[in-house]
Amino acid sequence: MPDARTGDTVLAALHGRRSIGRVGHDPIPRELVAELLDAAVTAPNHHATGPWRFVVLTGAARGEVGAAHARAVARARPDAGPEALAKEAARLERAPVVVVCAVSPGEDPVEAREDRDAVAAAVQNLLVAAHARGLAGMWRTGAMADEPEVREALGFRGREAIVGFVYLGTPPDPVPGRDRPRPGAEAVTEWRGW
Ligand SMILES: Cc1cc2nc3c(=O)[nH]c(=O)nc-3n(C[C@H](O)[C@H](O)[C@H](O)COP(=O)(O)O)c2cc1C
Repeated sequence: MPDARTGDTVLAALHGRRSIGRVGHDPIPRELVAELLDAAVTAPNHHATGPWRFVVLTGAARGEVGAAHARAVARARPDAGPEALAKEAARLERAPVVVVCAVSPGEDPVEAREDRDAVAAAVQNLLVAAHARGLAGMWRTGAMADEPEVREALGFRGREAIVGFVYLGTPPDPVPGRDRPRPGAEAVTEWRGW
């Protein structure tokens, strides 16, 4: 069990993390991302199925997946002009590193649901670990998460599904506050037998 000081540090990290969309583009060492991913996969995981899959994009690799997204947009919106498509192609370049977090779900429907839940927990771990190491991060999805072109570019097949694109970068100074205030849990909690 953590001692009280470690516990305070962990809780401060949970409360202090916030999503930051506009990040700095200083390079992030690969070993640091690897450390964050090792923290991510400590998430609870029923039956130890290890359902997570990660593709870590940086440099030109972001543009390759971005180009696949732009092809998907061109297919879905034939009226989209070159400027709009260029903007779509550059989406993943909003941060120096993008971790694509995906689930490889089990066949059983309950296991599949729990596998996705476990990956969602891993994404949160990743965000908190990034915050703990002084990085800024944001979990994004959008249409890109389901586009066949993007799935193919990333090598996902069958029932594998993208749970989130985690954008990682250096935090701006000053760090902006949250978009929306976060109320505590009291209003959504029913206490029984206390
Ligand atoms: C599954 C999931 C998908 C999300 N997708 C997006 C997205 O595509 N774009 C976006 O701006 N925010 C997205 N968000 C919300 C942000 O990640 C973030 O939670 C929200 O802006 C609140 O900020 P906070 O984490 O600082 O409280 C998503 C959140 C979750 C859980």
